[in-house]
Amino acid sequence: MTGLTPSIQAAWRSAHGGLLRVLQSMGLRQPEAAIESASQRFWTESHQGRGSHWRSTARFAEGDLWTRIGVRHLGMLRRAARLLDAEPAFGRVVEWGCGGGANVVQIAPVAREFIGVDVSSESLRECARQVEARCDTPFRPVLVDVRHPEAALRDITDRCDVFLCVYVFELIPSPAYGERILHIAQQLLAPGGLALVQIKYDTGAWRTRPRRLSYRFSPGNTTTYPIHAFWELAVRCGFEPRYVELVPEDELDERYAYFVMVKPDIPGGVMSSRSSGRDQVTRPNGATSPTRSAPSDR
Ligand SMILES: C[S@@+](CC[C@H](N)C(=O)[O-])C[C@H]1O[C@@H](n2cnc3c(N)ncnc32)[C@H](O)[C@@H]1O
Repeated sequence: MTGLTPSIQAAWRSAHGGLLRVLQSMGLRQPEAAIESASQRFWTESHQGRGSHWRSTARFAEGDLWTRIGVRHLGMLRRAARLLDAEPAFGRVVEWGCGGGANVVQIAPVAREFIGVDVSSESLRECARQVEARCDTPFRPVLVDVRHPEAALRDITDRCDVFLCVYVFELIPSPAYGERILHIAQQLLAPGGLALVQIKYDTGAWRTRPRRLSYRFSPGNTTTYPIHAFWELAVRCGFEPRYVELVPEDELDERYAYFVMVKPDIPGGVMSSRSSGRDQVTRPNGATSPTRSAPSDR
């Protein structure tokens, strides 16, 4: 492939992708465990930032895209806090799949503590380097295996205020695996905690469906969801999705949906403002009524 011109490479990739989709529609699929193992291999072999948003990689060599990624997501978190009338200080933040730290360097300076979870120890080290060069906020790296993400719950015992996951859900082994991550997020968050989760959406068109073959060929097209299906999944996992921001195309890829969700104070019930001491809850319909303050375990 390396000796071919870029247009021939693109045509070859497109034909290869099409062939995989045809095989899949004929019923050929890899079992979940095989895709999980392929994903674990892909992210844990030495990669020097390939696909992991390291500042030093060719993709970010020119311009300020790397900085804009983090600034954009910090802006989204601030907007969510404002719209939900929540605490503007972020407290303890956890990012699932923190990569080379593009988000961490922007968000850690306004957080009390930052926990970065990733399946790549190389990326966790790079992320730590970036955040240490930027601010004094404590950064805690947590390494997980793709096959056992729930192990993070053993390492992170303190409740978090914010759960962030961007440019990761399209890479996870399957839509069902996303349910595991949402359950983990639910358990990591304090009651009233905020989650910002980005997915790649399925428009119903053939080429936008999840892929169950050949993870390595194109990891970023592995997992997609119809927008309403992800909303319903989040509810089943105990979240209150509040709104979705759509980004049909950005500098890196296409079809992104950002879900802003809250862990309710009472499972399946109403959501409190995150500002402890404010004697109000926000009901799903947006109305407010007096109640107890949010628990102060954060
Ligand atoms: C495209 S990078 C995104 C990095 C960062 N979130 C950002 O926005 O710059 C994807 C990251 O997700 C990590 N990753 C891949 N699969 C994962 C999984 N199942 N659980 C946690 N992290 C994962 C990769 O190691 C990589 O660091």
